[in-house]
Amino acid sequence: MAIVAPTLDTHAEEEAMILDVVRQLVAEKVEPRAAEIDEKGEFPWDVQRLFAENDLLGIPFPAEYGGVGGSFLTYVKVVEEVAKACASSSLIIAVQELGALPILIAGTHKQKEKYLTKLASGEYTAAYALTESGSGSDAAGSMRCRAERRGDTYVLNGTKIWITQGNVADVVCVFAVTDPSKGANGISAFIVEKTFPGFNVGKVEKKMGIRGSPTVELVFDHCQVPAENLLGAEGEGFKIAMKVLDKSRPGIAAQAVGIAGGALDYAAKYAQERIAFGKPIGQQQGLQFMLADMKTDVEAARLLLYEAARKCDQNAPDITLWAAMAKLKAGDVAMRVTTDAVQILGGFGYSVEYPTERMMRDAKITQIYEGTQQIQRLVIARTLVGRWKPPTSASS
Ligand code: CAA
Repeated sequence: MAIVAPTLDTHAEEEAMILDVVRQLVAEKVEPRAAEIDEKGEFPWDVQRLFAENDLLGIPFPAEYGGVGGSFLTYVKVVEEVAKACASSSLIIAVQELGALPILIAGTHKQKEKYLTKLASGEYTAAYALTESGSGSDAAGSMRCRAERRGDTYVLNGTKIWITQGNVADVVCVFAVTDPSKGANGISAFIVEKTFPGFNVGKVEKKMGIRGSPTVELVFDHCQVPAENLLGAEGEGFKIAMKVLDKSRPGIAAQAVGIAGGALDYAAKYAQERIAFGKPIGQQQGLQFMLADMKTDVEAARLLLYEAARKCDQNAPDITLWAAMAKLKAGDVAMRVTTDAVQILGGFGYSVEYPTERMMRDAKITQIYEGTQQIQRLVIARTLVGRWKPPTSASS
């Protein structure tokens, strides 16, 4: 069932073929595992291998580096399909993308050959380490993790938190301060392998949702990183981090649209079967109005998502805006729609025996990670009114 890189005539045909494979895999292998993955709270290596065997981990990577050479649009549709059944499993694909993007965007040919090929095949898993305990939304201003050059090596010291898949990743793209006097322009990006001396996994978080996707602390204790693993030039790290988020936020929007779509499908089916007051509850106008609003919300978020993905494919100048709008809309829709799905199922919706409570717990993170909804609004507003900078004493 492996997907062979593009021998088909059009991207549309290739995408249709990939999505057919994904729907089948999800129905047969992922959906039946979803409740167990959540309950056990363990990274599902079987699902990771399934995705690797079916070439789902490197969809938008160039064929030259072992990828499928597909579009971002195809990639987000795949994440969405998987997230309909299992949000944790969808992160296996989305975080592979997130962790590989710094290399894709800023890597040299040699770095891409060395790492992207193994990430595309799924031999390596990836993570992206930006966040610190004092530096979440204020990613640049409060970063403390340091990288100091000593000969042919950078020595990294500091702690990153909330790192998705950090304990199962072979390769982590890490952002650290190389010049504290330069603010955002003093941050650099590094490709760090888990085998490098001084790389340690710390606390593993216990979470409300996405429980099959580990979230961990990474501790760099005089971690030795070869200078050739610097991504781009010194000081370019923050811009690389932001460019990555521009292309990875649609992946989270896709996860959110998928979760919402999955919850809506389940609730609509339930509403046709559950009888109250002598007829299916889906025939009661109160619930019909809820379902209609849920459907409209999901489709609106999906349209925004697909447009953001097209912008990624075109490297459009306004990717930042569209990625933020897609993530904002989709995250809020996922939260509202899953909450309403629980409501439609009533007491059953609150039970772990039905998937809607898991979907509701999983939805919450899409409003928080890869930039909170408040940060998305800030990013969107800045495209309208600019970024305010306090006047310097010379100009005031
Ligand atoms: N592309 C390129 N460059 C960009 C950029 C972008 N999208 N956004 C900003 N920059 C540049 C700016 O132009 C500026 O460059 P100059 O100094 O040359 O002018 C520099 O970067 C600094 O930009 P700002 O002054 O705008 O920076 P800021 O401190 O005001 O912060 C922010 C901007 C948007 C708030 C940013 O800090 C941000 O996005 N914060 C949220 C962080 C986030 O999303 N974290 C998610 C962690 S990953 C995760 O969650 C993954 C997971 O678990 C699955």
